[in-house]
Amino acid sequence: MGRVAAAAAALVALVVLGAPPAAGAELSGVFQEMRKAECHFINGTEKVRFVERYIYNRVEYVMFDSDVGLYVGFTPFGEKQAQDWNSDPEWMENRRTVVDWACRHNYEISVPFIVDRRVQPRVSISLVPSSSQAGPRGLLCSVMDFYPARIQVRWFQGQQELSEHVVATEVVPNGDWTYQVLVLLETPPRRGVTYTCQVEHVSLEQALRQDWEMPADAARSKMLTGIGGLVLGSVYLALGLGFYVRKKSS
Ligand SMILES: *[C@@H]1O[C@H](CO)[C@@H](O)[C@H](O)[C@H]1NC(C)=O
Repeated sequence: MGRVAAAAAALVALVVLGAPPAAGAELSGVFQEMRKAECHFINGTEKVRFVERYIYNRVEYVMFDSDVGLYVGFTPFGEKQAQDWNSDPEWMENRRTVVDWACRHNYEISVPFIVDRRVQPRVSISLVPSSSQAGPRGLLCSVMDFYPARIQVRWFQGQQELSEHVVATEVVPNGDWTYQVLVLLETPPRRGVTYTCQVEHVSLEQALRQDWEMPADAARSKMLTGIGGLVLGSVYLALGLGFYVRKKSS
């Protein structure tokens, strides 16, 4: 495996309310104490960093970083807390070995559903209408619901890569262990040219290529649809009038 960096964070949040909230009564205050424990994995379990943060009302006041090996305080209270912990050899021994008994241990048991997880992207191409002038503004390649996040999406015209006029969103997490990204080719597509959106992802054995060509004649098919509608409408109008006239004369 290449250079994989992952971070797992255990989060403990404790909210203490100033007073038991009676029905309709206003809270006198909200106090929030938060502790975060992060394991950073650099190239699997080869290099692991453990970071522990203590946060009170959104202010981080003391932290431990296994690369440093000591607690560091950021407020007067945090400095005092850091001093206390740093002078407790038993506790510091515990903190310095967290990378092994927590981080590496958790990594091994999480491998099947985090590191080895693969979900193939769904790829589709759509025309992007222009806001002002006539004709489309470009082509949008939608790459949906893949995992992990790392991905490469490129536009081609025939064999030639189009790297200019290409803009992409960030890779967006969907919140359900999948990601999406949109890649826009910002040039009006020309008739008779094949455009290809090419996606490379660890879940795919080979690059996925989705082709797109301007439909035969969009304007003419629209006009035919309109004419068809007009004819159908006229038939119904004639039928309706026929029934009306017959009913009235009978
Ligand atoms: C990642 O770790 C493996 C051993 O687990 C090692 O062989 C490889 O060289 C490392 N790769 C990098 C980029 O450090």
